[in-house]
Order: sequence, then C-alpha cells, then structure tokens
Amino acid sequence: MKTPYYITTPIYYVNDKPHIGHAYTTIAADVIARFKRMDGYDVMFLTGTDEHGQKVNKSAENAGIDPQVFVDRVSKNFKDLMPILNVTPDRFIRTTEADHKKAAQDMWNRLVASGDIYLGSYSGWYSVRDEAFYAESELIDGKAPTGAPVEWLEEPSYFFRLSKWQEPLLTFYEQNPDFIAPVSRRNEVVKFVEGGLMDLSISRTSFNWGVKVPGDEKHVMYVWLDALTNYLTGVGFPDTAVASYKTFWPADLHLVGKDILRFHAVYWPAFLMASGLDLPKRVFAHGWWTNEGQKISKSLGNVIDPIELIDQYGADAFRYVLLREVSFGNDGDFSILGMRNRINADLANAYGNLVQRVLSFIYKQCDGIIYAADQLEPQDKLILSNLEDALKDVREAIEHQALHKVCDAIWQCIYDANAYVDAEKPWSLRKENPERMKEVLYVLCNVIKRLALLTFPILPSASKTILLQLGVTKFVYENFTEMMPEKHSIEEPYPVFPRIAEEV
Ligand code: MSP
Repeated sequence: MKTPYYITTPIYYVNDKPHIGHAYTTIAADVIARFKRMDGYDVMFLTGTDEHGQKVNKSAENAGIDPQVFVDRVSKNFKDLMPILNVTPDRFIRTTEADHKKAAQDMWNRLVASGDIYLGSYSGWYSVRDEAFYAESELIDGKAPTGAPVEWLEEPSYFFRLSKWQEPLLTFYEQNPDFIAPVSRRNEVVKFVEGGLMDLSISRTSFNWGVKVPGDEKHVMYVWLDALTNYLTGVGFPDTAVASYKTFWPADLHLVGKDILRFHAVYWPAFLMASGLDLPKRVFAHGWWTNEGQKISKSLGNVIDPIELIDQYGADAFRYVLLREVSFGNDGDFSILGMRNRINADLANAYGNLVQRVLSFIYKQCDGIIYAADQLEPQDKLILSNLEDALKDVREAIEHQALHKVCDAIWQCIYDANAYVDAEKPWSLRKENPERMKEVLYVLCNVIKRLALLTFPILPSASKTILLQLGVTKFVYENFTEMMPEKHSIEEPYPVFPRIAEEV
C-alpha cells in the first residue's frame, strides 16, 4: 500500500483576480505534490476558493451582482488558472458547495457539543480586508498591524472559548516541535499564545453571506471557521468513517503565507482539539513577494499578473523563478530583469544547453542512435551516482519544504554534467576513440534522464519533452537508476528552453 500524503494550499478569497501570491503557494504545493506522487506516495492535493464573508460580500455589492453569481464567476478564474500554472490539484474546493456547508455546520455542532461555544455580544475592531478581529492594543495609528483599515463592530455574536485552549496549545507546540515552520515563525506563534488568548467571535449578524449557524439562522459563521474546515471537507468530513478521511486526515502539510499563520497555527488546532479531531502534522508559512522593491498593492497599481508572465515566458520558467529566487520561507523581491537573467542563465544556458548539445550531437553525428555502453569509467560512475545522491538530497529538502535547496541540488548536477561534457569532449572522441564516444554519450543520456526526472515537479512540460525524447514514458522515481535500453533512437531535438533576447 502506498503511503498517503495530504497537502493543502489556502483557499483564495474570490474578491479579486489571481495575483502572484496565489500563484506562489499553489505552485509550491504543486511541486511538493508532484514530487511525492513520483516518489510513490498516494497524494491528495487540495486547493480552492474561500467564497463567504464580508469582504467577498462587499466586492459583490460593489460589482452590483448577486453574491452567488459573483463568486461563481471569480472562482472560475481561479480554477482556470490551475492548468495555466500547470498545477494538478486532486480537488478544487469551493466553500459555497453543499458538502462544505454541511461540513462547516457539523464542525459547529461539535464545538457546541463540547461546550466551546457560547452566545455573547461582540464590540471591538474588525478589519474586513483581513477578515480578522483586533484588540485595541494591537492597533497601530488606528489601523490593523497589517495596515488594513478597521471598523468598530457591535453585534450579538457566538464565541469560541479560545482562552481555554492556551495551555493545551502550548503543550502541543512543545511536544510537536516541527508543527510550525520555519522556526522563526514558530517562535512568533508561541510568543503570541503565551501572551494570552481571548475568546474568539465566530458568528456575524450584520450580513448574511455565509454558512448559517445551525439552530440560529440570524447568524452566519465567521468566515475563518468556515474556511479552515475546507481541509476536512476535502477528504470527506463530516463522514469520518469514509475511506478518504481515514486515509488522508490528519493532513501532512498546510502550506500558507506568513500573514495567515495565526489562523492555521492557533485557531485551527484549537478548533480541532475542541471538536475531538486530529491535528494536522505541519503548517509551513512562506514569505511575501515585493515587486521591484515595493510592497505589492492595488492602490500602487503594481500587482503582478501571473497569466501575463506565463504568456510571455511560459509556465515552467515562471514556476522555476518563483522557487529559485528566494529561500522558501523568506520574503523575496520580484523583478523582470531578475526573471529574465534566471531564465537565460539557469534554464537556457545551463540546463537547455546541456540537453541540446548532447541530443543534437547524437542526432547529427550518430544517426540519432544512443548506444548502450558495456563498461564505465570511474568518472562515469561518479557522475551517475552523484545523481542518486541528488535524489536523496531533493527528497530530504522536500520533506522540510526547502524548495530552494531542491533547485540547488539539481543545478549542481547540471553544472557538473556540462563540465563532464567539456572534459570528455565527445566531438574529439568521434575520430580518436568512437567506442569511448558512445560510452560518454550513453552516460550523458542517462544523466539527462535522471535530471529530467528530478526537474519534473518544477518544470513539468520541459521535463516531459526531454524524457519522451529519450523514450522514457514512466515519470516515477522507482525507475530512476534504470539504465536506458540499447540503441534507442531519437528524433531531431529542439531547444526546450529558448534564450530570451536582451532587451534593447
Ligand atoms: N481566504 C484566506 C485563506 C483561507 S485558508 C483556510 C486568504 N485568502 S487570500 O486570497 O487573501 O490569500 C491568499 C494567499 O496569498 C495567502 O497565503 C497569502 O499569504 C498569499 N499572498 C498574498 N499576497 C502575497 C504576496 N505579495 N506574496 C506572497 N504571498 C502573498 O487569506
């Protein structure tokens, strides 16, 4: 039986069109999901849209459209983005779907049954943009710590006894040191919880675009309680006996942006503890992108549109640049020049050139035939075994969400392979020692095959093209070390990573 692996992205608010932040988490999750699938896991990868709450309601009002019609339209933009990003979720969930509403209400009922919900009245600050409540002491110059405007709310509300879960949460963090990552973020969360937790308002009465509170339909559920429950809905909850739930819950990894870590690392585990359900194994918070040194915001008009970039540079290149440019977990700065340089240096010059020079040499000088070698020299064995080590390093890096290290490990092998070509000089061997030339080319084709399997999760289109050129049709790590068959013949190769012309 395959080991299950359940990975999620946040579900995205449908108040606006998709931007680089949405693309980033989704691509990172897709890379991990693809690697795990290729590595023999039974993967469940969930993403989708968060469609209730005041923020979405207001956007629908501003557009002058019924909220359901509005969310149908905007959610579709997100769903359509998946193939554009070359992302392959197992389910695209929407919180307006019937099974999800049922799950959210079941969650509510569990919290009522455990005595964790009481009726009170909320008066305090609320930020619609963040969909978050803030204490007076948290405000900075009359705004939320995120810079979002806040408004005063006074309305009847149900509360969740979050305060009761302070100690259990701290104990849980201590016993599960890997639950929150990176470590710096973990420390922030622990500090926040140590500072004391106030009960959390979990229903609203001043608008009705949300999941109805069971038994009190004047209230809709707070959008975060509704939204977080999607991770359960995605695997069949509230049916906890169904195979998908039993297989995949608790989730292995919730990938989130740093701004929404508190919801995932404090509220969510508290809701789960209270409802008697298992807690996810890990929450990893990545950093934020700026654009050419500036904070990204609609008012500055510098929002980065992933679709435009993909139109121009392709999904593979976009995926690579997002992962390569920053250590996963840190903030990063996006620049077009940086992107173009990466594409030319790492994809066209290093990887693309390796593949193209080897395959076109075989095509032109060896009638397109790859001959198997009977014996290998020590340097041949070394370069092949270095790739086995790289697979181990990549596996390890994926386990820790160190996606930049994944790139490091693979590109080191690409540079080594180019150096091997330069050292072995197959073009000189053609006359001097044709037998050795065949060996060298055979080694190189096997190196390229392994490289393409390694780059597959990041660069799915190009890697697939390369593997198919080499006659490899099974994209799994199980056959990573299998040597290519005798006399495979190749078609005329074309460059998979074209160089981008310098801008004039
Ligand atoms: N709906 C909630 C999540 C609910 S999960 C149960 C939400 N949605 S969102 O659409 O606002 O956020 C989406 C994600 O985009 C967050 O993970 C956030 O960190 C990320 N980003 C938004 N702007 C970003 C950057 N500039 N850079 C990187 N990621 C950014 O929050």
